[in-house]
Amino acid sequence: MESIRKSTREEREQWLKDAHYNVFQLRANQVYIDLLTDSGTGAMSDRQWAEMMTGDESYAGATSFYKFEQMVQRIFGLKYVIPTHQGRAAENVLFSLLVKEGDVVPGNAHFDTTKGHIESRKAKAVDVTCDDAKDTQLEVPFKGNVSLEKLDRVLTENHGRVPFMVLTVTNNTGGGQPVSMKNIRETCELCHRHGVPVVMDSARFAENAFFIKTREEGYADKTIKEISLEMYAHVDAATMSAKKDAVVNMGGFIATNKKDWYEGAKLFCIPMEGYVTYGGLNGRDLNAVAQGLDENTEFDMLETRIRQVRHLAEKLDEYGIPYQRPAGGHAIFVDADKVLTHVPKEEFPAQTLTCELYLEAGIRACEIGYMLADRDPVTRKNRFNGLDLLRLAIPRRVYTDNHIDVVAAALKNVYDRRESITRGVEIEWEAPLMRHFTVQLRRL
Ligand code: F0G
Repeated sequence: MESIRKSTREEREQWLKDAHYNVFQLRANQVYIDLLTDSGTGAMSDRQWAEMMTGDESYAGATSFYKFEQMVQRIFGLKYVIPTHQGRAAENVLFSLLVKEGDVVPGNAHFDTTKGHIESRKAKAVDVTCDDAKDTQLEVPFKGNVSLEKLDRVLTENHGRVPFMVLTVTNNTGGGQPVSMKNIRETCELCHRHGVPVVMDSARFAENAFFIKTREEGYADKTIKEISLEMYAHVDAATMSAKKDAVVNMGGFIATNKKDWYEGAKLFCIPMEGYVTYGGLNGRDLNAVAQGLDENTEFDMLETRIRQVRHLAEKLDEYGIPYQRPAGGHAIFVDADKVLTHVPKEEFPAQTLTCELYLEAGIRACEIGYMLADRDPVTRKNRFNGLDLLRLAIPRRVYTDNHIDVVAAALKNVYDRRESITRGVEIEWEAPLMRHFTVQLRRL
């Protein structure tokens, strides 16, 4: 338990100005309810804390590693396991082995670090998500799905230049939207026909399994653990940010059945992350990941969590606020373009809405839109072709439904005065890659 602090609007005006209108630059104690991310912000359970007390901190071959390895093998059915300190570190290690200049890596809305690790190696990340996700008001069960036609085209046109495909579950940037088992199977079959392996970006794999169980025909009677095993039976490897669905504050891993990838990745793990039985993690952290994986692949835990996300969605429905429908697994993504209709896209509506929500009630959300999309690496133009969303990410086991009601009410207040918000923000300074973390803005 921790206390949270209310602030005045005057204080927030000053703090946001000092933060250059970028909520990443705020101090956490300037935030009342923090929905910046569901990553590493969950509350660990009693059993996870108990595991923390019995970590084996041996440099090599710690019992904590074997406990961790065994749990990953049990949940994912993948044989070789390399721990890393978080998800992007798993990408860094594996992509160092696999991605070369000129390569093409298709995926269903690559997360920004995934795209960053591809583009920084002078390769191209090509989005092959189905078009359903582009229409936030379309109500279909598996908006995170891969378009097989788009994928086939990319694989055919780039024969010999595709080291692997990234299949992200759930699809974070598209709105926490799941991928169906049918689509996982067909995507993997298509890739394998082209001789291309599939890497599952697994940050929210358990939430994806929950949606398969509750939305896809034939899975209602299967357990989350059975569904997870079936998902991973199709792919060649997994990169995992354990900060989400293993409900730990830090952690990640690579898992694969490909011995050559394992042997190759180990060589990058040692200089980048540390020896292969700890990979940047403490023994106690490895224990907590193992326990978290076990707990968060139980239906009750997932149902409680996803119902809270749905509770927020139902409040927004009541107020008529448009979001990516249906409600996703870890967050609600408000369609900022449809809320701040008077703010031109060149002035970043979702980023503007992030500022307005913070000023309104000290709630920190996250822009998943034009700012996050970075510039095109070739033309250096802003990429305005995707969605411009405000993400309200719900940490696991942290807030009560009362907090969620406050968030909805604050958003309603902003929504009610949306017509009066006519100008957005302008970039004063930005980094060449992953600019949204550090960008400095001016309010217009
Ligand atoms: N893949 C996905 C789908 C993610 O959402 C993230 C992180 C990563 C990989 C990278 O993992 O943070 O452990 O290095 N997403 C966080 C978020 C940061 O807020 O959505 P990481």
